[in-house]
Amino acid sequence: MSTTLIASNRGPVSFTLSDDGALTMRRGGGGLVSGLSEVVRDGDVLWVCAALSDGDRGAVRLAPGGRLDQAFDTGPVRMLDIPPAVFHRAYNAVANSTLWFVNHLLYNTPLTPEFGTRFRREWESYRDYNGAFAFALAEEAGHGARVMVQDYHLTLTPAMLRVERPDLRIAHFSHTPWAPPEYFSLLPDDVVAEVLTGILGADHAGFLTARWARAFMDCCETFLGAHVDHTAGVVSYDDRTTHIGVHPLGVNGEALRRRAAEPDVESHMAAIRDLVGDRKLIVRIDRTELSKNIVRGLTAYREFLARHPEWHGRVVHLAFAYPSRHDLPEYREYTAAVQRCAKEIEDEYATEDWDPLILNVHDDYPRSLAAYRMADVLLVNPIRDGMNLVAKEGPILSPRCALVLSREAGAAAELGPDALLVNPFDVTGTAGALYEALTMPEEERLKRGARLREAATALPPLRWFEDQLAALG
Ligand code: G6P
Repeated sequence: MSTTLIASNRGPVSFTLSDDGALTMRRGGGGLVSGLSEVVRDGDVLWVCAALSDGDRGAVRLAPGGRLDQAFDTGPVRMLDIPPAVFHRAYNAVANSTLWFVNHLLYNTPLTPEFGTRFRREWESYRDYNGAFAFALAEEAGHGARVMVQDYHLTLTPAMLRVERPDLRIAHFSHTPWAPPEYFSLLPDDVVAEVLTGILGADHAGFLTARWARAFMDCCETFLGAHVDHTAGVVSYDDRTTHIGVHPLGVNGEALRRRAAEPDVESHMAAIRDLVGDRKLIVRIDRTELSKNIVRGLTAYREFLARHPEWHGRVVHLAFAYPSRHDLPEYREYTAAVQRCAKEIEDEYATEDWDPLILNVHDDYPRSLAAYRMADVLLVNPIRDGMNLVAKEGPILSPRCALVLSREAGAAAELGPDALLVNPFDVTGTAGALYEALTMPEEERLKRGARLREAATALPPLRWFEDQLAALG
């Protein structure tokens, strides 16, 4: 029986299955997982997660009761083998195509969304998937244990778990933005109510910024008629109260700097230097994710080149756009649009001895660390983002890097005063900010860089997690 538990869709490890049936274990990726991995390394915390692939399912079959630590060197992990069709509908259709779209304002409303019978079946699967987590957590949690439920995949789990185990202290944390009521009301009314009351099943609901917390409270007021004390951050509904907390996740600067000083990163730096010479570097590092706004970022770079011929041959844009969520057609189309736009820039501006743009489409962590270290400008221009840790990692690794940052990223709340803030839809404004960043005097870069670094490391993952445990009581 555990005293502290984490529940999230993606777990700390994943497995791949080779043709001869052998399983290979890898540490899980992504911001949520890397932040939380640091937390569990230091404590006795059970992590409950879903099997995401055939490899994962193969591993669960070898682990009694899904406890991976009984069969592999994982630390305490229970992986749930949810039927693939149910998982697919819950993860791809509801979590990633509905809740993610709503909270990042991604719908192209003349065509999407459409909530008919198909959606109802998907919603049923989302309920089953959340129920599977609630069931496993109820089984594993000791009396009075603290359960930390993560993100939009698991909005219903807190209320379901409370019914099973009223003795537990339950927290929910949203790693995404939260949409204002006018946009949240795109969802069917009963679905809205279920999501909100699901999270209100927790004693503590955490958000990355005050803005997202406020939007959540506004939704509770508008759709449930809940009593909300905005100043104290308390939502009262159905004879229960939920405390709302703001916990702006930061970066463990020391660990990041240590990793970025390793020889594999150094050799990538040398390779990049060979490619770009002493030209200035504009860097971006993203998954090819609709919310990251990569196409407008590339278009802004193109507009900058059109307006500033004096920079031709003197600057290179190193853009990392790793594959993401390719089960969804929108993501496949978006990847193609990014590649099209990159090719147009190449066709228009490349010369025999100058490549204006280098697009990296393969996930290569040491190479991206090398890029951070060499960046003169870091471009982070999401349409909307819960936090965006790239904006925090860059300044830690390059003290003289100027940051061009979307005002719609959660990170803008802390980094705004020392970044060059842009409206992510304003391509001309973003092109202007790129120019300003490239021509920023050295002294100012260093001054801003030092303050950015301080803000980026203010709340590293371990303290971020401890703060939430403390808030939970
Ligand atoms: C990013 C988001 C998280 C989300 C995760 C899911 O890290 O910030 O809110 O949980 O992506 O990514 P996945 O690859 O697991 O779908």
